[in-house]
This record gives sequence, C-alpha cells and structure tokens, in this order.
Amino acid sequence: METRIECPEPGVALERIDRPEARNALNGVVREQLAEHFRALAVDDEVRCVILTGGPQVFAAGADIKAMAGLGAAEMMRSGAQAHWAAIKGFPKPLIAAVNGYALGGGCELALHADIIVAGEGARFGQPEIRVGIMPGAGGTQRLTRAVGKYKAMRMLLTGEPVSAREAEAMGLVSEVVPDAEVLERALALARAIAALPSLAAMTIKEVVLAGADLPLDAALLMERQAFHLMFDTADQKEGMAAFIEKRPPRFRGR
Ligand code: CAA
Repeated sequence: METRIECPEPGVALERIDRPEARNALNGVVREQLAEHFRALAVDDEVRCVILTGGPQVFAAGADIKAMAGLGAAEMMRSGAQAHWAAIKGFPKPLIAAVNGYALGGGCELALHADIIVAGEGARFGQPEIRVGIMPGAGGTQRLTRAVGKYKAMRMLLTGEPVSAREAEAMGLVSEVVPDAEVLERALALARAIAALPSLAAMTIKEVVLAGADLPLDAALLMERQAFHLMFDTADQKEGMAAFIEKRPPRFRGR
C-alpha cells in the first residue's frame, strides 16, 4: 500500500503517504487510496480528527510527472483526479497536515486542503508546475491566493520558487512551525485536543468557515448564526455548559 491509515490513539487517525522512491508523487494509485481512505474516515464514528502526513524528507512532490508526461487534455479530464480530490475537499472532520520536507505542486495543494498545517523547520512549500510547462490544477491558484494574498501567491506561482517553513508561516500558509523531529508529536497533540472536544461543534465550525469564505459577509454571518443556534440542540452543548456551571470536567459524546 502506498498510503495507509494508522490509529495512534483513540479518536485520531493518521493517514500516511509512503512512496519514498518517487518522493511521494501522487500517481493514480495514491490519489485513489487517499480518496478511499478519506471516504471511510468520514463515516467512521470512532474518528474525530485526522492527521495527513508523508515521510521525513518529503510530504509529497506533487502529481506524478512521469505518469502524466505523455497525456493529452482529454486523457487528463478522464483521469478521475477531480473525484479523488473531492473526497478530501469534502472531508467533514478536522484535518491536520503534518509536513516535513518538500510539499510541492499537488503536494502543496494537498496540504492546503487541511484545516491546520504543522510544518517542520526544514519544510519547503512550492508550486513549481510552471517549470514543467503547466500550472497548478488542484487549487494552487485559488486556495494559495486566498491564504497568502495575491502578491506572495503570484511570486510562488510565476517563479516556481519554493518558500521555507518560516516564510510560509509569515505568509499565513502554515499554522505553526516546529523542529522537524517534533512535527508528528505536535500534530498529534493538536489532534488529541480536538478529538476530546465536541465533534459536532468541530465539524460545524469547519463547514461554516469553509462555506463562509465563498459567501458575501451578510450571508456568511446568517449561516453562522443559524449553525450557532443548531448547537443548542446537541447533547454536548448541555453537557459542556452543565460541566462549566458544576465546576467539573465535561464528558463529551459527540451527540
Ligand atoms: N513525479 C514523478 N516522479 C517524481 C516526482 C514527481 N512529481 N518527484 C520526484 N520524482 C522521482 C524522480 O523522478 C526520481 O526518480 P528516479 O529515481 O527514477 O530517477 C525520484 O523521485 C527521486 O527524485 P529526485 O532524485 O529528484 O529526489 P531529490 O530528493 O533530489 O529531489 C524533489 C526531491 C525536490 C522533490 C524533486 O524530486 C522535484 O523537484 N520533484 C518534482 C516536483 C514538481 O515539479 N512537482 C510538481 C508536479 S506537477 C503537479 O503537481 C500538478 C498539479 O498541481 C496537480
């Protein structure tokens, strides 16, 4: 298997890309496995937060250049890549990318699908597609620009030059930077904390943040207010507030 699911602790799943001989390049098999795993994790009630990671040297070096070098536009359209990405784009639970080494092209775009990105000091983020005669095709021109703004994004997209983890952090492209050896540990600590919190609230926060980003402010605020009201029909709202008032730790059940 070139990707696999591990269960480091209750409530947390870790999805690992493991194709080091090709620097975790995302060929059809990897993309299909990722999609299949994310679809399964989405409906697994035991899983409340997911970490996506690669290896110590490379998170993912992008789409598999060798597999697509000879393809035409129609073959690319028929490749099903869009459906694979859709499973990750639509993943409803909190997703943390734990990035060591290179996150390039589709690898950077994959990290940009996450809700939180923890990067090692040696990580490099880049959209080098222009250097092989193409452009990003999995959100690089859009999610990257929304995350870091036009001028930082354009520099990355038009030159293909990667940025360091520290530069990525300053741009708002990653959530936090830690020593390389501590990336997984930190991602796990965040995942553990999130998994212990009410899962319906976590999923609703993710849904509202992502959907709201594409809406005019008034519509987004209306959506937020309605989702906020819905929280009051959850058992975890009753438990969380009762626990606060009774000065005891809450016992959330994801209901
Ligand atoms: N596709 C296919 N094979 C790849 C690959 C990729 N994206 N990246 C690396 N490999 C392969 C290499 O061809 C090489 O294979 P061989 O051993 O058979 O020669 C092997 O992995 C090791 O690669 P390197 O020797 O280059 O390893 P390195 O450690 O010196 O460098 C790297 C690592 C900086 C990531 C470098 O491999 C690299 O620049 N890779 C390409 C990055 C890239 O251009 N990504 C964009 C792809 S297009 C895209 O992603 C489109 C999209 O948005 C959907």
